[in-house]
Amino acid sequence: MRIFLDTANVEHIREINSWGILSGVTTNPTLIAREGKDFKKTLLEICDIVDGPISAETVSLSAEGMLKEAREFSSWHKNVIVKIPAVAEGLKAVKQCKKEGIKTNFTLVFSLNQALLAALAGATYASPFVGRIDDTGWDGFEFVRDLVPLLDYYKYETQIIAASIRHPMHVVEAARAGAHIATIPYKVINQMIKHPLTDIGVDKFLKDWEKVPKK
Ligand code: E4P
Repeated sequence: MRIFLDTANVEHIREINSWGILSGVTTNPTLIAREGKDFKKTLLEICDIVDGPISAETVSLSAEGMLKEAREFSSWHKNVIVKIPAVAEGLKAVKQCKKEGIKTNFTLVFSLNQALLAALAGATYASPFVGRIDDTGWDGFEFVRDLVPLLDYYKYETQIIAASIRHPMHVVEAARAGAHIATIPYKVINQMIKHPLTDIGVDKFLKDWEKVPKK
């Protein structure tokens, strides 16, 4: 499973990219707004840091409008992936993007059917929002666990990005479900590397090392 960072904060992206484990970045209008900077400038800055898929989201409601945005965003940089919402107009836009060689991320996916339609339309990625489903009291991974083997069985090329990740156990669940990618917020990626026993262990080794006679 590959890891994307779910943020538009370039400092955070730079820091996590230095770990050597990052394959891409996802943004959305909320994450872009949070940074209070120009959209295109921010996106290009991210593309400069990470050499991998960088998702940029459309905000049009019609297929025509989505396509116009998709053509524009994808002209900015070869790594830009166009995020298109899981609605009927979105399917039309994804289908046309596929014809034009524009890579897409079908987003706001909350059901197996939406993901299946994304695969049929030729989406490069589909993003089930597991955390938002969990927030409603359901198991956000339930359909993701069925989805991945099903896509394999029918030999669909669409890759699943587990999105709306809220905590480290969501990442574990994403890996268990066979998601191709998990897009993870900065806070959670930091939680993933932390373990109190590692800190205690490092501390003890350093203290014991002091006792080793040095010539
Ligand atoms: C990523 O593609 C999504 O936009 C993001 O994971 C949504 O996360 P949220 O549900 O925490 O807003």
